[in-house]
Amino acid sequence: MTPDQHAVVARILSARQQEPGALLPILHDIQDQLGYIPETAIADIAFAMNRSKAEIHGVISFYHDFKMSPPAAHELRLCRAEACQSMGSDALAAHVHACTGIDEHGQTADGQLAVRPVYCLGACATSPAMLVDGQLHARVTKEALDAVLQPILNKTTGGAA
Ligand code: FES
Repeated sequence: MTPDQHAVVARILSARQQEPGALLPILHDIQDQLGYIPETAIADIAFAMNRSKAEIHGVISFYHDFKMSPPAAHELRLCRAEACQSMGSDALAAHVHACTGIDEHGQTADGQLAVRPVYCLGACATSPAMLVDGQLHARVTKEALDAVLQPILNKTTGGAA
């Protein structure tokens, strides 16, 4: 952690550690403010919460939305819920994997792209749907997916992780 990151974590712990059920709010606050939960913050969190580092790791790894590495430059969230599945999201997910080499929950080695599943974006009537950097795309086809993916992948020089 940088000194600035350490100060952020210390401030969050100080403000919240006495609250009942504080661990999840603390983890959310750290991720909201730093973009991820640095590995080196685990010891500080464990000490403040009187828990083991393994327990903190277990909670972080249980929830897929917690990240332990800096966020990718771009995030693709493909809807994997029923309406989108019925309209071809499985094939889109396979296409993403074929193009990037990464699975859902994966990130390219150069940090350009992260792929995450999402379960309903409220756009079922226009499924399949996805979010790219927070922007909704509806009635997604392989061609539409390529139009979004290729400019990102062209920046990727290190290949997939
Ligand atoms: S199921 Fe995909 S947007 Fe609702």
